[in-house]
Amino acid sequence: MAYGAYLAGPVAHCMECHTPRNGPHLDLSRLGVGGREFPDFDNPGALTVSRNITPDPETGIGQWSNADVKAAILLGIRPDGTKLTKTMPFAAYYNMTSDDLNAIVFYLRSLPTLKM
Ligand code: HEC
Repeated sequence: MAYGAYLAGPVAHCMECHTPRNGPHLDLSRLGVGGREFPDFDNPGALTVSRNITPDPETGIGQWSNADVKAAILLGIRPDGTKLTKTMPFAAYYNMTSDDLNAIVFYLRSLPTLKM
């Protein structure tokens, strides 16, 4: 769990993008709930919004299998087969080891459940 938190935090920056800000700081009471706006790298000029990666079954990844979460991280593919924009840096995660991936998924499952 600690290793997963380390990877999702300072190493791969998942929580940085997937947590709203409160002024200059991450709003840690909303850790992983998403909602931050970013430029959409697949659609110049458009914006995209980071998603809820807490275990909420409706707005988060609570109903996703471990394989579903891994496919989003490594390949940028949602369970319904649609593609994530490359603003979500799945290309950078492509060579992640399965141990590291398992640690991240385990950590995400441990987050407090929040509604987006
Ligand atoms: C640079 C910011 C950024 C980083 C870093 C980032 N993400 Fe994302 N992520 C996004 C954005 C933006 C989306 C939404 C993309 C879209 O809807 O096309 C997204 C989508 C997702 C999704 C799909 C959720 C859904 O409901 O469709 C998952 C799962 C996810 N990210 C997990 C992670 C994990 C785990 C990491 C770290 C290994 C991570 N992200 C790192 C920005 C980021």
